[in-house]
Amino acid sequence: KSDPPLVFHWFPFVGNAISYGTDPFNFYKECQRKHGDIFTFILFGKKMTVYLGLAGNEFILNGKLQDLNAEEIYGPLTIPVFGSDVVYDCPNAKLMEQKKFVKFGLTQKALKAHVPLIEKETLDYLKTAPAFKGPSGTVDISAAMSEITIFTASRSLQGAEVRKKLTAEFAELYHDLDLGFRPINFLMPWAPLPQNRRRDAANAKMGAIYKDIISRRRNNSNGKGVGTIMEEDDMISHLMGCVYKNGQAIPDMEIAHMMITMLMAGQHSSSSSSAWIMLRLASQPDMVEELYHEQVQNLGYNGSQPLQHSDIDKLPLLQNVVKETLRVHSSIHSLMRKVKNPMPVPNSDYVITADKVLVASPIVMHLSEEHFPNAMVWDPHRWDSRVEVETEEDMVDYGYGVMSKGTRSAYLPFGAGRHRCIGEKFAYVNLVTIISTIVRHMKLGTLDGKSTVPPTDYTSLFSRPAQPAVIRWERRSG
Ligand code: HEM
Repeated sequence: KSDPPLVFHWFPFVGNAISYGTDPFNFYKECQRKHGDIFTFILFGKKMTVYLGLAGNEFILNGKLQDLNAEEIYGPLTIPVFGSDVVYDCPNAKLMEQKKFVKFGLTQKALKAHVPLIEKETLDYLKTAPAFKGPSGTVDISAAMSEITIFTASRSLQGAEVRKKLTAEFAELYHDLDLGFRPINFLMPWAPLPQNRRRDAANAKMGAIYKDIISRRRNNSNGKGVGTIMEEDDMISHLMGCVYKNGQAIPDMEIAHMMITMLMAGQHSSSSSSAWIMLRLASQPDMVEELYHEQVQNLGYNGSQPLQHSDIDKLPLLQNVVKETLRVHSSIHSLMRKVKNPMPVPNSDYVITADKVLVASPIVMHLSEEHFPNAMVWDPHRWDSRVEVETEEDMVDYGYGVMSKGTRSAYLPFGAGRHRCIGEKFAYVNLVTIISTIVRHMKLGTLDGKSTVPPTDYTSLFSRPAQPAVIRWERRSG
């Protein structure tokens, strides 16, 4: 029984941090070429064992709870941002209950109600943002999509009251909380640095804002949260009515922290994904026109009627544009778990010992020729005839409802297993609605007319387009 091969490095503690940190995808590909699907590299003294491919995803993402632990790895970074007693600051069984609560808050009915709200926020932005003044112009698309997605998610997922508070003060708190997501915080999350003090103060203030909303609702209503202040059946009021298996209602502070989690966990991934979609569309203006005509043909769009949730099913090309962009530009490149017990790797001599962190990287599969011919080419039409099959033996229940295990699929932009993304359905509806609205009103192009997109910037925690990412837009007439 042996250890997986160790990737060569010059410096003992730093290890492979530089190659990994600047371009993890090519680092993984290069290691795979030399060592195969399993290898260990050193990241600031930690032994990171990467296991690529379908078997690796199954091994890591569907590993047993007693063998693999996410909270030890993600907790130090996320707990100060999200707050106490939620997600990675509680036992896994409690997280599974919290995921169940959120899942039931994201019903078809809720998503249906979200579509017009998301469309309206997007339209308002296109009408009022300085970057979209006039009949045509250029826009820093990363900055614009980051603003649009925070407005749409706040209005729909977070609710009208939170959206109303999206003033300068809230934006500053958001920014301060976001300081907690700098990669350096993987190493020193508790260091007494000014940015960490600002992060902690922001978590406390943001928590107080949510607690205030909750207690005003309790005082002004029948106690269930649907009160006289805001007659809205939103996620906050849904969580106010949820009860843990032990009979305890979710404490107000935990509701506040769950709402902060949804805000912070959803924002970067959604904003970078939407920026990539816009950059890809700008690089292929013909695709923008195909999308526009899809809406005219399949929805009878005549320039004014609003989008409905039921329309989304009638827009397969738009769905495939989102799907293909998430394949090529997955915002999270490394999914990590701390190993708790020695884990023999099936059909091999390797045993992954408890001094390791296991890393899955679905993006390596997304960009492999084996699973996606011409993998580096962005081609939404590849999905026209491709279906991901889910069979009954793939179905499991980790404690938050029956779902597909997922690990037989070569396409995992939202992860798989017990830690699979809880915001997937919302993220899809949000992205599809935002992009369909923009396409209805704008034509897009690159600055130089070439079909290129910027390279990926991996230096932040979430892969995003390198700066500057500026595109050209032109308002449709009529
Ligand atoms: C987890 C991707 C949007 C909340 C994850 C994971 C991935 C992912 C890959 C798994 C992490 C792991 O296994 O280590 C994405 C992408 C998004 C997106 C690509 C948008 C395009 C959202 C939104 C929300 C959200 C909108 C909030 C509603 C979460 C949470 C987890 C998670 C709370 C942790 C779940 C757990 O550990 O059990 N996401 N996400 N995400 N996501 Fe998302």
